[in-house]
Amino acid sequence: MLPPGKTYDDKSVLGIFLDEQMIGCIDLVRGYPDASSSFLGLLVIDERYQRRGLGSAAYGRLEQWIRDQGVCDRVRLAVVGVNEPAIAFWESVGLVPTGETKPYRHGRVVSELVLFEKSLRPPADDW
Ligand SMILES: CC(C)(COP(=O)(O)OP(=O)(O)OC[C@H]1O[C@@H](n2cnc3c(N)ncnc32)[C@H](O)[C@@H]1OP(=O)(O)O)[C@@H](O)C(=O)NCCC(=O)NCCS
Repeated sequence: MLPPGKTYDDKSVLGIFLDEQMIGCIDLVRGYPDASSSFLGLLVIDERYQRRGLGSAAYGRLEQWIRDQGVCDRVRLAVVGVNEPAIAFWESVGLVPTGETKPYRHGRVVSELVLFEKSLRPPADDW
């Protein structure tokens, strides 16, 4: 899926590998919702490999990959409000709620999407 106004040239789907085995994936759209943001549609780790630090390690590499491209300096994503493990995960890697929410409904799940973001800019130089 693509957000409005974006094309597949803006999108990357990345595999997360442990040795030779694919254990997860990442879906990322560059330049959404604004030119300096990368929007993370999904980061998933195979259930058998969760809680071993692999999601954090994969996210850390993703941040570096975004920084190295030199285009976007912010990561944004939306989490379903009832997905408490995911919220705990994103907070553990430094994302913070923006205060924005949107209604969410999928089958019997009625919740809200909670927007999170993280600046990738270097800390301000206080000298
Ligand atoms: C969210 C997800 C990617 C985390 O991956 P992971 O490899 O298990 O995460 P890590 O082992 O790196 O966990 C880092 C920290 O996140 C938090 N965390 C991760 N899973 C958690 C859980 N189930 N409950 C509470 N906190 C959790 C903890 O603070 C954890 O640190 P700790 O293990 O030292 O306590 C994984 O659970 C997943 O794929 N979930 C399904 C898909 C999903 O919801 N993705 C996010 C929405 S896009």
